[in-house]
Amino acid sequence: MKQSKKKIFIACDTTQVSKVKQIIRHSKTKRLNIGFKFGLEFLNSINGRKFIKSLKNKIIFLDAKLNDIPNTMKNAVIALSDLRPNYLTVHISSGLEALKAVKSVSKKIKIVGVTTLTSLDNKNLREIGYNKSVKDLVKHQAKLANKAKLDALVCSAHEIKIIKKYFKKEIITPGISFNKIKNDQKRTTTPYEAYYKYKSDWLVIGRSITKGNIKKNLDDLIFQIIKK
Ligand code: C5P
Repeated sequence: MKQSKKKIFIACDTTQVSKVKQIIRHSKTKRLNIGFKFGLEFLNSINGRKFIKSLKNKIIFLDAKLNDIPNTMKNAVIALSDLRPNYLTVHISSGLEALKAVKSVSKKIKIVGVTTLTSLDNKNLREIGYNKSVKDLVKHQAKLANKAKLDALVCSAHEIKIIKKYFKKEIITPGISFNKIKNDQKRTTTPYEAYYKYKSDWLVIGRSITKGNIKKNLDDLIFQIIKK
């Protein structure tokens, strides 16, 4: 059976437009569906916003991780609309009212709810005053995202199975590691597991692709996810 193309977002975490151009240039491949994710670092850099606006025919993921009162969230989405993002993140912890406010103005933009950051584990949650475990909290957040009619969710691969019971749309998974690059993620998995065992729709991969030889890193990734 022919495999459908696997989908990844490459996290362009840099302040340098030249680095993003290099990432885009070196990630041309027919074997994957690639989108580009721009987060707080690039969005807040001097030329980042202008560069995103100039992009054509690319799948754009704005990882703005909005988390504020409903009125501010709503106006922030309107303010970001000129960048024509396909996907835009909001923290589910901003609350149901804020999520609904965002959806009321999002038009074609897919609103992606961020559950619990993949850099946090149970100990870290207790530190910030949450009593629930990561799994229970993410389950709770998935139900809220469903209620707010969000279009996609971000979670670690380990929570996908639980989430799919309550949320039937796209699942996007960061916390992917497939080479020796050490990072600050806690709830990680391999790309193969994320696609085939946990059934994620999109993987978000940053440093494992963008550090070092981008083409070679992508080839390594493709080799690892081709079903044997
Ligand atoms: O370099 P690495 O592959 O760890 O990058 C992961 C990317 O995914 C980063 O841009 C990070 O901001 C983002 N992200 C995450 N965890 C979330 C949501 C987004 O790591 N829960």
